[in-house]
Amino acid sequence: MTRFETISGLRQYIANIKPEQSIGFVPTMGALHEGHIKLIEAARKENDIVISSIFVNPVQFNNPDDLARYPRTLEEDSLQLQAAGCDVVFAPSVAEMYPESPGIRLNFGELETMLEGAFRPGHFNGVGIVVSKLFNIVQPKRAYFGQKDLQQVAVIRRLIRDLSFPIELIRCPTVREADGLAMSSRNRNLTPFEREQAPTLFQSLTLAHELLTEGHSPAQAKAAVTGIFSSNPNFRLEYVEIVNADTLQIANEVLAPGQTAICLAAHLGKVRLIDNLVF
Ligand code: PAJ
Repeated sequence: MTRFETISGLRQYIANIKPEQSIGFVPTMGALHEGHIKLIEAARKENDIVISSIFVNPVQFNNPDDLARYPRTLEEDSLQLQAAGCDVVFAPSVAEMYPESPGIRLNFGELETMLEGAFRPGHFNGVGIVVSKLFNIVQPKRAYFGQKDLQQVAVIRRLIRDLSFPIELIRCPTVREADGLAMSSRNRNLTPFEREQAPTLFQSLTLAHELLTEGHSPAQAKAAVTGIFSSNPNFRLEYVEIVNADTLQIANEVLAPGQTAICLAAHLGKVRLIDNLVF
């Protein structure tokens, strides 16, 4: 596996790839876990060349403490990527990606007024800018994103359409720990006690799913989830919503199979966790 730290180095490598060879791209912020590796494996199956990026993108963090605490484990990450069959890792510095702070701003309209967009102002602007830059540098045929960040998938879908990137977006399933906790780089920041509590997110999603499939209304399912979190003082529930899985617009009823998503975010100690279930 080759590692590039400069845009010019990676561009040179890409210029030498034959036009008939497909590139599969997996952007990450590192601190890799099985969720990321599954994306690499999916890209490996479908493409001639697999490129991943590791870049903790300051522009998408709206909380400076979250950025400072974000785990950075480049050497271990590189070993994992290599073992999963990744051909190239792009790991630029902040100065390389942003010689000056970006002058443009991306606004995803209604898509960013709710859920993550509402609670993390500016977050999707930062995601949109860095992913656009990476798409321009890597020029992949296919790009792989996890369902774990469902709203991010919707934002990237919009980005690809609105800016005519010739890229196929592939959404891969959420990978979970044995107890249901969605894998996340931020899980490393949980204390052992918090780690024991953390599966509450998935348990409450499962309960909401059950209620909805039994015919209860979204309002009743949301109330059940709110009840679980209000009886546990270790958590602070930020939101729970039942939405259209593609547009992220609020759904007042269960939609066609595969179209309904239950999304939530909660603080557990200093860590903010998100999860969702699509059915
Ligand atoms: P990061 O949080 O490192 O995630 C990189 C990719 O891995 C994203 O597509 C994310 O949805 C996916 N992922 C994370 N946890 C997962 C899990 N448990 N199961 C399946 N997929 C999972 O998302 C970002 O980085 C950044 O916003 C980025 C797109 C790299 C732009 O900076």
